[in-house]
Amino acid sequence: MRDDNDRPLDVAVIIGSTREGRVGADVARWFTERAGKRDDLLLDVIDLADYPDFPGSYPATPNGAMAHFTDRIARADGFVIVTPEYNRSFPASLKQAVDYAYDEWHAKPVGYVAYGYDSRGLYAVEHLRCVFTELHAMSLRDTVGLHLVGEDPGTERPGPGPYGDRADRAATALLDQLVWWGLALRDARARRPYTS
Ligand SMILES: Cc1cc2nc3c(=O)[nH]c(=O)nc-3n(C[C@H](O)[C@H](O)[C@H](O)COP(=O)(O)O)c2cc1C
Repeated sequence: MRDDNDRPLDVAVIIGSTREGRVGADVARWFTERAGKRDDLLLDVIDLADYPDFPGSYPATPNGAMAHFTDRIARADGFVIVTPEYNRSFPASLKQAVDYAYDEWHAKPVGYVAYGYDSRGLYAVEHLRCVFTELHAMSLRDTVGLHLVGEDPGTERPGPGPYGDRADRAATALLDQLVWWGLALRDARARRPYTS
């Protein structure tokens, strides 16, 4: 008999950069091409560039764009954040959106697909781990870290994808962990309300 917990996991993939000329959308496409092949996931790609009506200052009452965004966060059982590194952290566009939700993040797994130069977005990820701990979310241990140039293109980039075999393996590991935690926490939330 099919257990309800066998139904695919609803995963929101959030594109954190809204910069004109960004590479973030290409990185997200690379990732969702891989994630989309799995039958244990249903993807909702949340592109923050599609929310030009996020307010310049935090309003007392959420506007329509904010409510639309937080509804999508509420519906998801897990998240993948696609983030660049800006000055050793993640971009302001992402922090603005993350801060619009609170309960909606609770007791759900978060994976990181980061990119940059030598650091591969590692500093951005470490800052995001602090933020999502505060939001009672479960950051996955493994991350995808993409070098936008590649220190040694001869060894770094072989393989079918634009970022090479290593990145493909990292994406698979992240998705496996996301599904494990996502199913476990979805089941746990259904059994008893999360207490924060
Ligand atoms: C304001 C700014 C700061 C940046 N700081 C860093 C940095 O600290 N480390 C890094 O590896 N790359 C840094 N970069 C390079 C970005 O990782 C690179 O430009 C990347 O393409 C940005 O993502 P996006 O194109 O999706 O916006 C920075 C880029 C910008 C625009």
